[in-house]
Amino acid sequence: MLNRWKSIFLVVTIALCLAAGSSRAQQAPPQSSKPEHAHQKAQDPWWKHAVIYEIYPRSFQDSNGDGVGDINGITSRLDYLRDLGIDAIWISPMYPSPLVDFGYDISDYTAIDPLYGTMADFDRMVSEAKKRNIRVIMDFVPNHTSDQHPWFAESRSSRTNPKRDWYIWRDGKGTGQPPNNWQSWFGHSAWKFDPTTSQYYYHHFYTEQPDLNWRNPQVRKAMYDGMRFWFKRGVEGFRIDAVSRLFEDPNLHDDPILPGKNAYGDPNIMHKYTDNLPEVHEVLREMRRVADEFPGDPVLISEADEPNIAELTKMYGSKNDEIQLPMDFQMADVNRLSAPDFRRLLDEIDRNTAGGQPHYFFSNHDQPRQWDRYGDGVHNDQIAKLMATLLLTTRATPLMYYGEEIGMRTTDPVRKEDVQDPIGKIGWPQEKGRDGERTPMQWDTSKDAGFSTSERPWLPVPTSAAEYNVTAESHDPNSILSFYKRLLALRRSEPALRKGSYLPLDRENPFVLSYLRKDSGKGDAILVVLNMSAETRTVSFDLAAHEVKEMSAIPLIAAPEIGGESTMLTHFTIPAFGVFVGMIH
Ligand code: GLC
Repeated sequence: MLNRWKSIFLVVTIALCLAAGSSRAQQAPPQSSKPEHAHQKAQDPWWKHAVIYEIYPRSFQDSNGDGVGDINGITSRLDYLRDLGIDAIWISPMYPSPLVDFGYDISDYTAIDPLYGTMADFDRMVSEAKKRNIRVIMDFVPNHTSDQHPWFAESRSSRTNPKRDWYIWRDGKGTGQPPNNWQSWFGHSAWKFDPTTSQYYYHHFYTEQPDLNWRNPQVRKAMYDGMRFWFKRGVEGFRIDAVSRLFEDPNLHDDPILPGKNAYGDPNIMHKYTDNLPEVHEVLREMRRVADEFPGDPVLISEADEPNIAELTKMYGSKNDEIQLPMDFQMADVNRLSAPDFRRLLDEIDRNTAGGQPHYFFSNHDQPRQWDRYGDGVHNDQIAKLMATLLLTTRATPLMYYGEEIGMRTTDPVRKEDVQDPIGKIGWPQEKGRDGERTPMQWDTSKDAGFSTSERPWLPVPTSAAEYNVTAESHDPNSILSFYKRLLALRRSEPALRKGSYLPLDRENPFVLSYLRKDSGKGDAILVVLNMSAETRTVSFDLAAHEVKEMSAIPLIAAPEIGGESTMLTHFTIPAFGVFVGMIH
C-alpha cells in the first residue's frame, strides 16, 4: 500500500532538491520527581536509551463509555505499558480543541479538553506513570492555533487589534483573488478570506488552523510559557508538530508549480517559500533553551519530514543546541523491504555530522500502519517481526505506535459518509484520510475489543481484532506481541543493543541486511541478520575487520524460532523474511 503522505513528501523532496541547486492553570502543579531508571548511565541522558510509544488518546482506552479514549483510560493501561517494556509515552494532543483536526487545532495551550478528562486526571496519570518508570511526553503544536482560540478571535476582530499581528494577514491580489498561489498541505489555497476585515489569513493546514506569526516576539513568549506550564507539571519532553512550517516568505513570492496534480486535484507545487525557512532554527534553539531550564534532561522531538540527511542533520543544531530527536521520515518512508535502501539510510544517519542520536519509527497517526505497508499480503506477521527487529536493534531511540506490537492493520473507511478525518472528506476517494491508522486499540475479544462500552466507538473496531488483540497474543508465545516483549527485554538486558556501535556487514547483499552492535565496555558483539526477501538465503560473515575473532553466534531471539544451537558465521542460512539476533562467541 502506498504511504498516503508519500506523494506529498515526494513533491517536497523534489522541491528541495531543485532548491538546493539554486541554493488554565486549574490547580497547583504537583512536585515533579524523576524516576530512577536502573539501566541509565549517569553520563547519558535518559532519552538515548529509551523506547518511546505514541498514544493516540482518542483510540487507546475509553474509561467513561462515550466512545472516545481518555486520560483515565491511559492510566488504567499503564501496567500493560510497563510490562511491554517501554520507557516513555508521547500522547497526541489532549488540549481543548474544536477537534477539526482531532486536537491539532488547539484553543487553549494550558488546559485539558474535558473530553479527555480533567487536569487532576492528567496529574494522576503523570504520577502513576512515574511510579512505573514511564515518562510522559506531550505534543506541542506551535505552527497554528484553532480558529476558535481567543487569540484568533481577537486577531480577526479588527485590523488594529493588538493581536492582529499574531497571525498572518494580507490583502488579496484583487477581488476574490488570494495574495498568492500558496497551497494548504490539506488541499486548495492556503489563504482564507475573512469578511470582517476584508483580508486573507494564512493557514498551512485546514482553514480552521490559522498560522501563528512567529516573527512576533509576543507569540514566541506566549508559546514558550505554554511549554513551561507543562514542564512544571512533570512532563519530560515535547514532540513538536510541523516545525518546518513555522515561517513563510514575507515577500509572498509565488511557489513554483510542478508537473501533475495532487490527491485534492490541485496542481503540484514546490513549497519553496513556506517550508524550512532558516528562521526555524532560531526558534528551535529558543525552544531548546526553554527545555534546558528544567532538570532531568527533558527531550524535544521534532516532526519534520526532512527529505535528506543534510536537512535532517540541521535539526540537531550546529552546536547540538536544537532538537535531540528529529524523527527520521526517510527511514519511515522506505515503504518496501529493501536491504540496500535501509543500509544506505542507516549508514547516513549513523555518520551524521552533528553526531545526533537517530530516531526511527515506521508507523504513526498520519501513516498507514507498517503491518500493511511492509507486509507482502502473505507473510505479514513474520514481516511485522522483521520490522520490529529493525526498529529495536539499530542504534537509535525507537518510536513505536500503539497497536504495532499486536500487528494492528490499517482499516480505512469504505464509505465516504463514515469518514472522520477531514482530509478523507476533501480527498475521497483517492485520499481516504487517516482514520485507517487511528482505529481503537485491540485489547481483547469482548465487544469493541475492550476499548469502549459505548454503543458506537468514534471509529469502528477492525474485524481483525478477533485474532489480533492483547489478551489472545499474550497467551501465544509465537505472537507478534510476545516477540516485541522479548525484543524489548533484550534491549534492556544487553548494553550492546542500547548503546553499542552500529557496524554494517555484508554490505553488497541485495536481500539480507546484517549488522553488528558492539559494546565498547564489555566488548560484547551482537549480530543481527534480517532476510528482506521471500527466499531462504545463505550468507557468510568475516568479522575480522571489526576485531572480532569468534566464528559463531548463539541465538538470543529468532523468528521463525530456532534451537539454542550456536551457528557458524561462515555458512549462515536464514529463511524467507527470517530474523536472527545472536551473541557472537
Ligand atoms: C502534523 C500532525 C497531523 C496534523 C498536522 C497539522 O502533521 O501529525 O496529524 O494533522 O500536523 O497540525
